[in-house]
Amino acid sequence: MSEHGSQDAAGMDTQTRLGVVGCGLMGRGIAQIAASAGDKVVLVDNRPGAAEEAREELAATLQRLTARGKMTSAQADATLANISTADTLDGLDGCEVVIEAIVENLVVKKSLFADLEHILGPDTILASNTSSLSVTAIAAELEHPERVAGMHFFSPVPLMKVVEVIDGLLSDRRVGDRLMQLGQRWGHTAVRAKDTPGFIVNHAGRGFGTEGMRVHAESVAPHPVIDRILRDCAGFRLGPFELLDLTGLDVSTPVMESIYHQYYEEPRYRPQPLLRTMLAAGLLGRKVGRGFYTYGLDGKPEIAPERAVPPVRADRVWVSEARPELAATVKALLQRLGATVSDAAHPDEDELIVLTPLGEDASTCAAAQNLDATRTVAIDAVFGLDRRRVLMTTPATTPEWRDLALGLLGADGVPVDAVRDSAGIVAQRVVAHIVNIACEIAQQGVASPADIDRAVSLGLGYPHGPLAWGDTLGATVVMTMLENLAAASGDPRYRPSPWLRRRAALGLSLLSQDD
Ligand code: NAI
Repeated sequence: MSEHGSQDAAGMDTQTRLGVVGCGLMGRGIAQIAASAGDKVVLVDNRPGAAEEAREELAATLQRLTARGKMTSAQADATLANISTADTLDGLDGCEVVIEAIVENLVVKKSLFADLEHILGPDTILASNTSSLSVTAIAAELEHPERVAGMHFFSPVPLMKVVEVIDGLLSDRRVGDRLMQLGQRWGHTAVRAKDTPGFIVNHAGRGFGTEGMRVHAESVAPHPVIDRILRDCAGFRLGPFELLDLTGLDVSTPVMESIYHQYYEEPRYRPQPLLRTMLAAGLLGRKVGRGFYTYGLDGKPEIAPERAVPPVRADRVWVSEARPELAATVKALLQRLGATVSDAAHPDEDELIVLTPLGEDASTCAAAQNLDATRTVAIDAVFGLDRRRVLMTTPATTPEWRDLALGLLGADGVPVDAVRDSAGIVAQRVVAHIVNIACEIAQQGVASPADIDRAVSLGLGYPHGPLAWGDTLGATVVMTMLENLAAASGDPRYRPSPWLRRRAALGLSLLSQDD
């Protein structure tokens, strides 16, 4: 296969002639970024008139961007001049690269690629924007499957500045190299992935929603509480239930189920049955006004106001030293809040007992340390004590002791939530699960550690790349959380990835690669 695309003497990209097949949301977005970067784009769609409509919509988009000062009218004119339309696939003749963004159906995509192969010479690169199909399967029956690779953009394309370039098993590496260059030329961060279910972003994204649902399924806390804990304590922009409602359960449930089944029922990706029940009820989320939340006419979710902390507070507290570093942080906080914190080896009978677990539940810790569970609470000392505090009771904690703990922890006005006993409380288990899945993606060689973090930060908007997040928490801390979660639940879902286990054992960064 010859060199794909054209380069000038300095090795810089020159103008590429690009074909885009499928002029829906994604095709239009791809055309916009390519044409803005100076490439020539030919739009084709099998619905008569759709390509011309797409060009008109793009003209309107460019006008809006000009009005908002995002580009000059000269830039908008030049961009639009780069976009043309064709009525049939024959109009793609002369394109160096063709990206398809048609319906997500393997049979239809294969048939389109077979048609393209007859029209375009063997050096034309054929790329698929598929988000869930195998690039290898799309290409397998072609005469030249080596010219096919994935180029997976995210919606909306001009704003989601990351693209996954997918090498199929039969792809020529140079095809992916060329698509990486193009993605970067169009202003996106291009990351490289192997053809595996969910590639990087949709694979890595399995942790957040499924673990949030799992916490909910264990009746640890109502969904608005789980959402606000993950926003305020862990730094996610939206909680998992807010996100599920925004995406729509009709879209996210099939993705969750498909990745779970494509990995042969890997427990790490297991969804929860409530999703199917909600789908049956038509509770799809924001777009129908009801999902996990009910939405008012203003589009805002109806959420009960947080309850004020009780007007009582514990004044004598004993903090377990089982995790000395976490205990020291919590002791300092409790002293700041005006409590008398005991230094004794065992709690007195009138003291509130506070635990600082790492992946364990409060009951297990209380029993192991032979503590009175009726006046025991646990605090998540890993995920922030500043913006929101999360207190966990045992099944035996009395309401009086719980209220004394809530009153004390909320004494300075920081919001406090009380949740039921749960290994890993809420944020620890969700974040540890996300880090573990990212480690497994690295272990499987789906992408480089740096690309995993880049793709997840840009594609999912998490506060940190998951591997860097694991490093910040400490690989051994994440290991401990997961081992305790696995022990408490007996669920292989939480078994640590070998990537994590080895790096924790050797004190290496989770971003470090084997040679
Ligand atoms: P869409 O439904 O908005 O647009 C699809 C377009 O393709 C329509 O204009 C349709 O007329 C045309 N089309 C269908 N079959 C065709 C064929 N055989 N030949 C030519 N044109 C054909 O779909 P959307 O949302 O733009 O998605 C397109 C592709 O991009 C799908 O494969 C999807 O999985 C993928 N994708 C979508 C994302 C999204 O958020 N919507 C994100 C990432 C990937």
